[in-house]
Amino acid sequence: MAKKLFIQTHGCQMNEYDSSRMADLLGDSHEMELTDNAEEADVLLLNTCSIREKAQDKVYHQLGRWKKLKDKNPDLKIGVGGCVASQEGDSIRKRAKHVDMIFGPQTLHKLPEMVDAAANSIPITDVTFPEIEKFDHLPAPKVEGAEAFVSIMEGCSKYCTFCVVPYTRGEEVSRPFTDILVEVMQLAEQGVREIHLLGQNVNAYRGTDADGIESDLADVISAIAQIDGVERIRFTTSHPVEFTDSLIEAFRNIPKLVSHLHLPVQSGADNILKAMKRGHDRQSYIDKINRIKEARPGISLSSDFIIGFPGETDEDFIDTMNLIQEIGFDHSFSFIYSQRPGTPASDLEDNISEDVKKQRLAILQRRIKQHAYDYSQAMIGTTQRILVSGYSPRDPGQMQGRTENNRIVNFSAVEPQLVGKFADVIITNAYPNSLLGEMISSELELEFELA
Ligand code: SAH
Ligand code: F3S
Repeated sequence: MAKKLFIQTHGCQMNEYDSSRMADLLGDSHEMELTDNAEEADVLLLNTCSIREKAQDKVYHQLGRWKKLKDKNPDLKIGVGGCVASQEGDSIRKRAKHVDMIFGPQTLHKLPEMVDAAANSIPITDVTFPEIEKFDHLPAPKVEGAEAFVSIMEGCSKYCTFCVVPYTRGEEVSRPFTDILVEVMQLAEQGVREIHLLGQNVNAYRGTDADGIESDLADVISAIAQIDGVERIRFTTSHPVEFTDSLIEAFRNIPKLVSHLHLPVQSGADNILKAMKRGHDRQSYIDKINRIKEARPGISLSSDFIIGFPGETDEDFIDTMNLIQEIGFDHSFSFIYSQRPGTPASDLEDNISEDVKKQRLAILQRRIKQHAYDYSQAMIGTTQRILVSGYSPRDPGQMQGRTENNRIVNFSAVEPQLVGKFADVIITNAYPNSLLGEMISSELELEFELA
C-alpha cells in the first residue's frame, strides 16, 4: 500500500508553493500519497513561517501534538522545513528530539534522501542555501484546478530592518528564464489558465535566457502572455523600489496581466519608512502608483502594513491613514510589528503599548474593509470576467469563480464543464466577502459554436 504523506503549511504563498512541490517530489520518488488526516500518515511535514512571533510559536505546539502520534507509532517520520527550520534548526533538534528531518526553503529538494535516511533512523539537518539548485531537482508540477503558482525567484536582498526573510530564505536568486517558460507550458498543457508568479521580492527578478541575455519580470510576463491557454497573469510580492518603467509598461500593454497589484508600503510616514530602510519615501510611492493608475485605469491596489513599528507616533499613524485614503487600497495584509531576533530593528526599543497598537490596527483594518466594500458596491451592474473554480460550498445550485481583483462571485449554474473556463457575469449584489452575479456567457458556448 502506498505510504501516506501529511503536510501542514504555515505562512505565505511561497510556502504553499514549496509544500506542493514537496508532495510532487515524494510522490515521484517514494510514490507517497497526500492525506489530510495526520493520524494515518507515515510521514508528517511541517512547513513553517517565522515572519512574526506568533507564527513561530505555532511550530513547537504542533510538534508537541505530533509527538503523541509518534509515541503511538514509532515508525512515523517527522520533518520540519521552512523559515523556522532555517533560522533555528539546531534548537529544534535539541528541543524536539522526535523530529527526524530538518530542512530549509532551499534544501527541500533533498527530501527523498532525507526520508531514506530517516527510515534508517539517521536524523538529518540541512538548512544551507545552495543557490538555485533546488529547482533543478524538482519534478514537473502536477496541478489541480485552473490556477497555479510558479516561483520565479527566491529570497530577498532588501534587508528591511524588521524582516527575517533575507536571513531565512537567503539573498535574491532568480531562476533561468527558459526554465520558467517550460514550467508554465507544462501547466498550460494540464489546463491551467491563470499563472501566479511568486517571489519574496518578485520584481527583483533578473534571470538569463539561453543567449545569456538578462531578462526582468516584465520580460517574463510578456513571454508567458504568449503561451496558449494562459489568460491571466498575476505576481506577488513586489517592492516599490524595483517597480521599474518596464513593469509599468507591462500594465499598459499586456491585457492578460490582471488589473490588480499588491505593492506593500508598510507605512505612510517618511521617518518610519526610513527607519524600516524601505529605500523610498511616501511621495515616491504615490508617484509610482499614479503612473501605474495612468497606465492601467481602474486597477485595484492592495498593500501590506506594519502597525506600531518602534517610534511610530500618532502623527505617523495618521500619515498612514491619509495615504490609505489617497490611494484607495482595496485590500491589505496588516499586522502589528513583531520584534524578530537578529534583525536590526530588534535593537530598537519597542515603545508603544499593546493597546495603542491594537487600536491603530483596528482603525486601519476597518477603513480598508470599508474601501473594499465600497469598491464591491461600485461593481454592481458591471460585467466581470471570472475564472470558474467550482461549486459554492454553501449552495450546490451555485458555482463560483474569481474576478481579476480577487473577488469571489457566486452565480446560479450547475455545469461541471464550466470549471476551469472563463465566464462573463453581471454583478447583481455585493456582500462583505463575496459578490453575486448572473452569467451572461462563457467560453463553453464559444467552444460549442466553433465546433
Ligand atoms: N517583499 C515584501 C514583503 C514580504 S514579507 C515587501 O516588499 O515588503 C510579508 C509581509 O510581512 C511584509 O510586507 C510585512 O508587512 C510583514 N512583516 C514582515 N516582517 C514583519 C515583522 N517583523 N512584524 C510584522 N510584520 C512583518
Ligand atoms: Fe522582507 Fe523587506 Fe524583503 S519586508 S522580504 S526584507 S523587501
